[in-house]
Amino acid sequence: MPALDSTIMLSEHVIQARVREMARRISEDYADVDELFMIGVLRGCYIFMADLSRALSIPRHIDFIALSSYGKGTVSGAVRLIMDVRTDISRRHVLIVEDIVDTGHTLDYLLRLFRARSPASLKTCSLLRKSGSAQVDVPVDYLGFEIPDVWIVGYGLDCGDKYRALPYIAQISPEKKQET
Ligand code: PRP
Repeated sequence: MPALDSTIMLSEHVIQARVREMARRISEDYADVDELFMIGVLRGCYIFMADLSRALSIPRHIDFIALSSYGKGTVSGAVRLIMDVRTDISRRHVLIVEDIVDTGHTLDYLLRLFRARSPASLKTCSLLRKSGSAQVDVPVDYLGFEIPDVWIVGYGLDCGDKYRALPYIAQISPEKKQET
């Protein structure tokens, strides 16, 4: 992995403690449900999804969806479906699992897509949400951390597809971002 000289925003210890706390709340809220249907949004969610799903104390089914956004950061925020979930979500209790909500376009797209498939319930979970960058107002039912609108990497999040495997989340400078 390339060296990263930047500021740690959320340490491994802080992230892991928060993930356990989120898992405890989710496990309580879904205690009476047969099975929680977790849908992770590739690729950024993969580490959070692994840790969160393992920390739950309730039955769960794991699936993934992959999206691509056209013109990231533009107001249009058009989102395209690359890979759909494998299973029918009708009458399931669905929890969308994201690493980060930025403009909100991705989550907004997913909520509309899944609502049309008649789930028993539909909620959202994101480790991070950037404050001040929302273009669409989307509900996040389980949120790990509210963070400032800066470039970050680690714990699944990338910069030019690097740094995803870092166990912590670090702020990356605009200069470093330019290099990738
Ligand atoms: C990131 C992140 C979310 C999305 C949020 O994905 O994983 O899915 O952006 O942004 P939004 O709120 O502005 O829609 P990205 O497109 O960077 O792809 P990746 O997960 O494969 O890195």
